[in-house]
Amino acid sequence: MEKAASPYRVHIETFGCQMNQYDTELVRSLLKAEGFTLTEDRERADVILMNTCAIREHAHHKVYGRLADLKAIKRQRNLVVGVLGCMAQNLKTDLVEAESIVDVLAGPDSYRRLPGLIAQAIESQEQGSAQKGIAVDLSEYETYDDIMPERAEGVNAWIAVMRGCDNFCTFCVVPYTRGRERSRDPHGIIREAEHLASRGYKQVTLLGQNVNSYRFEAREGEQLLERYSAKTSQLRTRLGHGEGVRLGGPGAGGWKGGGTWDFARLITAVADLPGIERVRFTSPHPKDFPPALLDAVAGHPNICKHIHLPLQAGNDRILRLMSRTYGHEDYLALVEDIRRRRSDIALTTDIICGFCTETEEEFLDTYRVMEEVGFHSAFIFKYSERKHTIAARKYPDDVPERVKSERVTRLVDLQKSISRRKNEELLGQTVAVLVEGDAKKSSAQWMGRTDGNITVVWEKNGSGIRPGDCILITITRVSATTLFG
Ligand code: 5AD
Ligand code: SF4
Repeated sequence: MEKAASPYRVHIETFGCQMNQYDTELVRSLLKAEGFTLTEDRERADVILMNTCAIREHAHHKVYGRLADLKAIKRQRNLVVGVLGCMAQNLKTDLVEAESIVDVLAGPDSYRRLPGLIAQAIESQEQGSAQKGIAVDLSEYETYDDIMPERAEGVNAWIAVMRGCDNFCTFCVVPYTRGRERSRDPHGIIREAEHLASRGYKQVTLLGQNVNSYRFEAREGEQLLERYSAKTSQLRTRLGHGEGVRLGGPGAGGWKGGGTWDFARLITAVADLPGIERVRFTSPHPKDFPPALLDAVAGHPNICKHIHLPLQAGNDRILRLMSRTYGHEDYLALVEDIRRRRSDIALTTDIICGFCTETEEEFLDTYRVMEEVGFHSAFIFKYSERKHTIAARKYPDDVPERVKSERVTRLVDLQKSISRRKNEELLGQTVAVLVEGDAKKSSAQWMGRTDGNITVVWEKNGSGIRPGDCILITITRVSATTLFG
């Protein structure tokens, strides 16, 4: 296929987490560079790619449903169908064999090969054959550091700072679909964040499967870091911060580019960049919260006062079975440590109900820890056995579906009442909100988020507000999920 001359239109559908959305942006960039045209119009697309998720069974069902739709389209006209991401990696050739309509399969570390695979598939289809293109090698090094993602317009931009995960929580498929943990060079990350600020993005979210285990031994690139070190001093002066305020890096290693970069140093460096008003990060693991990171979150004005802290379970036997490496008391101690530094840091979490052999009494331990912590919100999942994981190989998935669902309902009810109570504490208060755009339910209303990541909705009233503005809103009414102002 000729570079920059391809008439082929590609449509990409994204399922799953923010990392997948980011990967779609990478893929868009890689395809555009090879001359493909990207289209939102799936009816007119020559190539439909699905960037998939494998984290729970539900995600699989969605993709299989979509593949069934595409089968009907493919009967009527030429169409190349590609499956990307975690499901491609996890099911590999099973997927191509079972779903004859899949022409291209590319795992999360193989996107550089995608333009070539698509071109081959188009050519083979035009010649009346159906050659499959499969790239599912995992890499220890691939971080796509040199690719600038093709981002959607908006207020927030994601930056993946590390990929993969070495934790092997026994329920989780990520170490198998996304491979070993590897961190990007901080210089590339900072360059990307500077570029985003210059394009008007106000918020950057640093992403990684295990984001706070970010680690990089820097050897080169002193120049760049010296350059932004100068900007940091200007910012320090502009904000009127004295030496005692932790706006710079965490001492050791100073502002030179060399030395070890951990997540605290990285997030502080990004938050120091002029133009970046808010920095968020997701998802961390409770085991990697050194004091420097807690200080950065609590002390830096541009790092959002929100920590997503996946608990998964509140019972120590289940946590051990999950290989989470902490007990419920360690977790509670970390929560106390966070709140002692700053009581207004919003905490959110992930919970799995009905993990292998979980008894009613053990489930109630999770219930009690959730009551004790009082999260602002929580994602609550039924355990879903995943192919290849340690749990699938070693433990029986023996909690009946009905019991899993009932436990999820009890926790959702509990969390709703806690979220509502937390939100009620904000009634009458004036909060800073970053305006994101129209509210989901009505274009006569704006929607934005507080620093703690709570959604705020208010009437437009013809005021001259624009997405990206940071404004003050007084809260007059609340629900469990939303503040109204
Ligand atoms: N079943 C249910 N939930 C899971 N998660 C990860 N793997 C599974 C699984 N097999 C949840 C965890 C994780 C979140 C992203 O998805 O709570 O933090
Ligand atoms: Fe999965 Fe555990 Fe890694 Fe998170 S830390 S991605 S839950 S293995």
